[in-house]
Amino acid sequence: MKEIIQKDFEIYFGSEVLEKLAEILITKGYSKIFVLVDSQTKKHCWPILSPYLVNYELVEIEAGEKNKNLENASIIWTKLQTYKADKKAVLINLGGGVVSDLGGFVAATYKRGIDFINIPTSLLGMVDASIGGKLGIDLNELKNAVGLIQNPKYIFIDPNFLKTLPEIEKRNGLAEVCKHALIDDKPLFEKLQKISLLDNLDSLLFQSLKIKVKIVKKDPFEKDTRKTLNFGHTIGHAIETYSLKNDSLPIKHGEAIAIGMICEAYISASIQGLSQEELRKISSYFSERFLKYKGKLPVKELIEYMKNDKKNEEGFINFTLLKKIGKAKINATCHEDLIIKSLEYYQNL
Ligand SMILES: NC(=O)c1ccc[n+]([C@@H]2O[C@H](COP(=O)([O-])OP(=O)(O)OC[C@H]3O[C@@H](n4cnc5c(N)ncnc54)[C@H](O)[C@@H]3O)[C@@H](O)[C@H]2O)c1
Ligand SMILES: [Zn+2]
Repeated sequence: MKEIIQKDFEIYFGSEVLEKLAEILITKGYSKIFVLVDSQTKKHCWPILSPYLVNYELVEIEAGEKNKNLENASIIWTKLQTYKADKKAVLINLGGGVVSDLGGFVAATYKRGIDFINIPTSLLGMVDASIGGKLGIDLNELKNAVGLIQNPKYIFIDPNFLKTLPEIEKRNGLAEVCKHALIDDKPLFEKLQKISLLDNLDSLLFQSLKIKVKIVKKDPFEKDTRKTLNFGHTIGHAIETYSLKNDSLPIKHGEAIAIGMICEAYISASIQGLSQEELRKISSYFSERFLKYKGKLPVKELIEYMKNDKKNEEGFINFTLLKKIGKAKINATCHEDLIIKSLEYYQNL
């Protein structure tokens, strides 16, 4: 078992982490244990966790982003109240980013905050969403519109949960795994290049999540360094928003930011000195593993979305770019023509 012990939270990684969880629950003496699952993690993950727990209440929500909302927050708060959860109760979030964002939000606000524990079960949850303390819900179709930053007490990561994760969800998480490598760890990118999506990623997971831990520790409130995690997300978010509004089967966040990373690598090569060879490596990495976006991307509309991005400052579209693989540059801006060219570059790949 590997571990990362920080001042305010602890991460345990490996196939024996659930024994460790059982041990910690006993020593902490929580007054009551609540477990939040969604309909999928109840089916696939709860049978693995339940033997390690005694005296718990299970709370279930439907799976999917549209359930990360105020109605479900209210249902969970009410459940905590009904079972008389006091300040010494704990909520365990067993699921992907939807469960940890929503459950964390509920726990951090119930009675001004009770402990919560994340057991991420999706790849994206393991390397990204369960770490860094960003919690929240969507409101009126605006993602993460209401929330706060607060760390879980513990994160237990058991890669065995990934066995039942659908391939499309693996690909979704892989984009963030690779983003961590591109902004901070060239040797990790070289290892990733050698494996395909379906290969066992377990040994690289810990390396990837350590990058997120390091970055959020330096800058928990996203004043500077944490912005490096936005690589691929300026263009990626615009594509994700467009696809959600227009496609009957919208592309996933990871797929959108994979396109975003190709485009932003192109911009990096034009204005930040990223070499043509590294641009080619990044483009082929993603185009070999991710499906090409079907249809034409409407550049003007995408640029409008980018202009409304909450990351912008003083009216400029804000980018995190790459100087080279493993080295990011935050707060970059560029001419609109270059954004258009980068989208053309992607479409002509
Ligand atoms: N807090 C953060 O820093 C942060 C970072 C990135 C993303 N997020 C949020 O995370 C969410 C996306 O997370 P996600 O991709 O994990 O989505 P998700 O939680 O919706 O999980 C994806 C799907 O996989 C299912 N699933 C999860 N684990 C499974 C398993 N082991 N076996 C079978 N099915 C399983 C889920 O039930 C769901 O249907 C978004 O709401 C996003 O805003 C938060
Ligand atoms: Zn992301």
